[in-house]
Amino acid sequence: MNAPETLVPPGTAQPGHSHGAAQTYPLTLTINGRQQEFRVEAWVTLLDLLREHAGLTGSKKGCDHGQCGACTVLVGGRRINSCLTLAVMQNGKDVTTVEGLADGDRLHPLQQAFIDHDAFQCGYCTSGQLCSAVGLMNEGTACTAGQVRELMSGNVCRCGAYPGIVAAVTEVMGIPGHDDPSRPFQPGTVPA
Ligand code: FES
Ligand code: FES
Repeated sequence: MNAPETLVPPGTAQPGHSHGAAQTYPLTLTINGRQQEFRVEAWVTLLDLLREHAGLTGSKKGCDHGQCGACTVLVGGRRINSCLTLAVMQNGKDVTTVEGLADGDRLHPLQQAFIDHDAFQCGYCTSGQLCSAVGLMNEGTACTAGQVRELMSGNVCRCGAYPGIVAAVTEVMGIPGHDDPSRPFQPGTVPA
C-alpha cells in the first residue's frame, strides 16, 4: 500500500496523539551517499519509501511478500528485501539502491558484466539481482558457481536469464563460471 508522505503537516504529528490523522514519524536515511529526511507513517516499507518518497524507482515491487527479490537493496552493505522491512526500522542507516552502484558514467563492474553476458531480458529483476550480487560479494561466502546459484536463489528471474546472471557474477568474482568445466552450460539446452 502506498501512502502519501504526510497526512498532517510536518512537525504536528505526535506518537499517541493522532487526532484522527495518521501519525507520521521522522527518519533520516543516507541513500546512495546522500543524507535525506523523511516523515512517513509507521507502515511504510523501505521499498515504498524509496519508490514513492525518494523517487528511486530502480528497486522493483514484484511480489511485495519477500518471495521474488526484485526489491533487493543494500542496508549497511547487507542485502535485504526492502518490501519486508519498515522504513522507520532503518532510521539512521546507509541504503544503497541500484541507482547508487555506478560511479558517475562508469558502470559498476557487475552492471557491465550483466550487459556483456546478456544477463537480462525484460530487466524487471535486474536491479535486485545486481544489488543481491553486490551483497553476495560483500559476504564473501560464495566460492563456486553452484554457491552463487544457491546464495542468489532468492532472486527470481521470470525470463530465465540465470545462465547469464551466474556467468556475470562469477566473472566479476573471479571464480569459475561452471562447477564442472568439462560440461559447460550450452544456451538452449537443459544441463543433465
Ligand atoms: S517485492 Fe520484495 S521480495 Fe518480491
Ligand atoms: S530479466 Fe525478466 S525477470 Fe529477470
